[in-house]
Amino acid sequence: MSAVRTRLVRATPSAVREAAALLRAGALVAFPTETVYGLGARAFDAAAARRVYRAKGRPCDNPLIVHLADPSDLPQVARRITPLARRLAAAFWPGPLTLVLEKTARVPAAVTGGRRTVAVRCPAHPAARALIRALGEPVAAPSANRSGRPSPTTAAHVRRDLGGRVPLILDGGPCRRGLESAIVDARGIRPVLLRPGTLTPETIARAAGVPVAAPGRGAPPAPGTRHRHYAPSCRVVLAPPAEVRRGALPGARTRGAGLVHRSRWPGRRPAFARRVAGGPAAYARALFAALREAEGAGVRVLFVETVPDRGVGRAVMDRLRRAAAR
Ligand code: TXA
Ligand code: MG
Repeated sequence: MSAVRTRLVRATPSAVREAAALLRAGALVAFPTETVYGLGARAFDAAAARRVYRAKGRPCDNPLIVHLADPSDLPQVARRITPLARRLAAAFWPGPLTLVLEKTARVPAAVTGGRRTVAVRCPAHPAARALIRALGEPVAAPSANRSGRPSPTTAAHVRRDLGGRVPLILDGGPCRRGLESAIVDARGIRPVLLRPGTLTPETIARAAGVPVAAPGRGAPPAPGTRHRHYAPSCRVVLAPPAEVRRGALPGARTRGAGLVHRSRWPGRRPAFARRVAGGPAAYARALFAALREAEGAGVRVLFVETVPDRGVGRAVMDRLRRAAAR
């Protein structure tokens, strides 16, 4: 694809208007959400959606998420909206929850990877909502990284991956959540969790009034979760807290090693070390940025401390396991 000049601008009202004009013309715009940055295109324009796959280098069987300015726009893109979907949307939109429902005829197959379902959410970031509102139509957007890389949580991350491939990046500051939305299939009675997010299964179950189900055996999870993902160029090795506290990670003191941790590390730290203070939510917020920083620092083997696999930690561990998969 031919290179374009990429501008990174603060998401002021005039920049948002300019971004909406670009989208209307079929171009791509990267924008902030509360989860991660998205790479947006007009959702009702198949050619624009195809440009998204090309810019990311994304397999075209991995569908995009449709973003709405307002929950009341849902019938534009989804049909057979279930009581469960209504309850979850009422509880969590705008917010970091994506619902899978049957799609309307207006949503092109290019957006859904040929599926009859559509993934849809209403983001909470004011710049995202202002952009979609200014366009006056839903915006299809995956995360704004090159396919397989950690999702971007700052505008600079987007420029690193997509510079020369998108004309405009709206800068809305670092993302408050830092991991992608939870994806729930809401077509039935029970919510089926296709991808964990910072919105925990416990919280989703409480709003639904029924327990959250795991995808059935043999049923495909969110298609994108099949692919190798979230991987920086360095090798990622999972480090249990007990081993971090004992300083017992073989290789952690050799050259080219790096460490991302919460617990105290005894003695001399590796040349690259990021300690994240606070609970699992703070860890979630910092994780992707830390992976990218380690890569930038020339780390070859990055040890990343694990967190308990529950609540927000479930999403953290989901992303970490994929980043570590070889
Ligand atoms: O927080 C987020 O969800 C961010 C921001 C930008 O909204 N978006 C995001 O998109 O993370 P991304 O790159 O993860 O891609 C969308 C995910 C993929 O895993 C895809 O397989 C899944 O959504 N998905 C899309 N349509 C689907 C469908 N009809 N059924 C099941 N999964 C679907
Ligand atoms: Mg993604």
